[in-house]
Amino acid sequence: MKKNSVFSAIIFISFLALNSCSKKQEPTKDSGDEIEKILTSLTLEEKVGQMTNLTLATIATEENRRIKLDTDKIRDIIVNHHVGSIQNVMNHAYTLEEWRTMVDLLQKVTMEQTRHKIPFLYCVDAVHGANYIYGATLFPHNIGLGATRNPELVEKCAAITAAETRASGVRYNFSPVLDVGRNQQWSRLGETFGEDVYLVTQLGGAAIKGFEGSDVSKNNKVASCMKHFVGYSVPLNGKDRAPAYIPEIVLREYFLPTFRNAVNIGSKTLMVNSAEINGTPVHASKYLLTDVLRTELGFKGVVISDWQDIIKLQERHRVAKTHKDAVFLAVDAGIDMCIVPFDFGFYNDLIALVKEGKISESRINESVRRILQLKKDLGLFQNPYVEKENIGNFGKPEYTATTLQAALESITLLKNNDSILPLSTTKKIMVTGPNANSVTALHGAWSYVWQGNRDTLYPTGLQSIAQVFSSSGAKFIPSFDYNGKNEWNKESLAKSASQFDAILVCLGEPAYAETPGNTPDIELDKRQVEMVQALAKTGKPIILLLLEGRPRIIREIEPLCKAILLGYWPGPQGAQAIHDVVFGKFNPGGKLPYTYPRYNGSLITYDHKLLDEAIEIVDPVYEYKYEFKPQYEFGHGLSYTTFTYDSIQFSKDTISTNDSLIVSVKVTNSGKLAGHEVVELYTQDLVASITPSVKRLRRFNKIFLQPGESKTISFTLIEKDLSFVNEKYETISEEGDFEVIIAKRKRKFYLKD
Ligand code: BGC
Repeated sequence: MKKNSVFSAIIFISFLALNSCSKKQEPTKDSGDEIEKILTSLTLEEKVGQMTNLTLATIATEENRRIKLDTDKIRDIIVNHHVGSIQNVMNHAYTLEEWRTMVDLLQKVTMEQTRHKIPFLYCVDAVHGANYIYGATLFPHNIGLGATRNPELVEKCAAITAAETRASGVRYNFSPVLDVGRNQQWSRLGETFGEDVYLVTQLGGAAIKGFEGSDVSKNNKVASCMKHFVGYSVPLNGKDRAPAYIPEIVLREYFLPTFRNAVNIGSKTLMVNSAEINGTPVHASKYLLTDVLRTELGFKGVVISDWQDIIKLQERHRVAKTHKDAVFLAVDAGIDMCIVPFDFGFYNDLIALVKEGKISESRINESVRRILQLKKDLGLFQNPYVEKENIGNFGKPEYTATTLQAALESITLLKNNDSILPLSTTKKIMVTGPNANSVTALHGAWSYVWQGNRDTLYPTGLQSIAQVFSSSGAKFIPSFDYNGKNEWNKESLAKSASQFDAILVCLGEPAYAETPGNTPDIELDKRQVEMVQALAKTGKPIILLLLEGRPRIIREIEPLCKAILLGYWPGPQGAQAIHDVVFGKFNPGGKLPYTYPRYNGSLITYDHKLLDEAIEIVDPVYEYKYEFKPQYEFGHGLSYTTFTYDSIQFSKDTISTNDSLIVSVKVTNSGKLAGHEVVELYTQDLVASITPSVKRLRRFNKIFLQPGESKTISFTLIEKDLSFVNEKYETISEEGDFEVIIAKRKRKFYLKD
């Protein structure tokens, strides 16, 4: 039975449709004075309410998968406590109508029942498409987009995500992840664009442009959130939210540049790293949040905490004795808005701190000014309600082509002995493995539910690998699955396999997100190894498909497989994309965005130091050599055609520091199929005062060539591209020899001071 204070959101639909659109505020004048005027009219409580962010569970429950909003709680939060933003879902995704109704209701309460009438802001994690709206377009996760090496495509995916998110009434997206994925064990590697700082900088920047465009007030744009500032992605023990130890020189060389670039592009907000660096939780680091972020990088937008991370300063990090001390540390360090998200602890303690004179009201004003500016930039003061006209931006049929394209371009062909792929559809193909009939394994984290692992909460109609391949005559033979059937018999699986011409075995990981995705090592599940070993005994060619957010060790089974495809977390069109690649409808061109390790104990990035490769041999004579032998290198990725590279051409062989060097190379499709090639330019600094990396990616360009076609690709390098952070933390370059590396071609030039 319904209680009086709790009612279903559905009831609101018609009611709000009638009311909301007639209640638009008068457009405000676009001037900073406007914000100052509002600011001076606010009480301390109203200001701190703007800095407080709560989760949906504080105002709603769920019944039969529908949100039930609690009007008493809403009033308490919005009217009595002046809370200015809410985020998240409860247990699963909602329909577009539910979203629009809910956001409008919250806005209506704010506009009609609060004194200040400052529009409300709803925020979500639309991290690979609008993943909390049923029917929205989901894309491959960032790690797959990293493999596409296609910034225009990344921008397009982000623009669609923005349009669909805004169509739901939500104007703030906690995306993109700008962490550079330099620890392959980390459970959030799949949310990154990869391990290389230049790659993440380019693709992260493209995503921000797609989310925000040139005018974020437009009804198809959302505020982006650069996250998680900074140094989150290299936990020493490989676990999520575990301590990192990052020397300043490394922080500046590998982790700050993605944020610096995003700040320059104009991203409106930033979320703080939940963990700690060198013993200081980032939420309490005035150095990072004020000196570096504000003073050095010049960031003017809103800094939001991560989930419960102020509370954790006391409870987990233990740098604060009381919760109030924790609030002091975080606000003093530079936090503007706190994802509390369940209570008024932050609100009460911050008010008390100001009243006690420990935090000045002018410090509060700084944060509130930024929050008001964000709301104004988003057009909320002009029209706080869900925009009636943008409903048509949701679910446009053409979005499917973009997500299919992204999945296709992400798929990375790691191995293709004897050109076994593409397969002919006339072949008898068996499909098996735990990921063959799993829709969740295609989607990964943040898909309809936070963990992405509850297929019962997925919309119907999504297709698994087994379903799509069955439509081309392949046969699915079940093995075990992660959540259900665990009984399986490898001998009988192998017996079935012996009746087919080829076996597509789909392995990897089940879906997970964040800390629940922690793993003690990245060995592939033993049952999966045994499955391939049993299937290999049939002598039938094995095509291994890996669906995984991070690389799992395949050293033992790699020699047993004729071909290996890496699909990452390709999203709802992933099965179709893999089908099209396997049967040659699409020629794969994805390039590894990380180093695929061969051993669990050797998690090294491609841009390591020479010392990482050194092997000293003492017997029979002392000698040393260099060897870097991951399973597959960063940038690796085959095609069904071949590309040949002519020698590298330079505009000059010596450049001075204010000069530029034009590097050109002619690339020819020397095979029989049209295909994509990513031309990657690396440099190596041969001698430097800080040990140079063996190579660093400096430019890339994706091209498409018909058989026999050639293109000359030119890149312009300037002194900045050759620079590094020195021991004084200055970014400098040094006179000397450099080598340019493109594919297997190399050529030296000289940089003169
Ligand atoms: C994650 C963030 C996310 C936030 C809000 C946290 O647990 O670390 O990436 O944006 O939750 O949902």
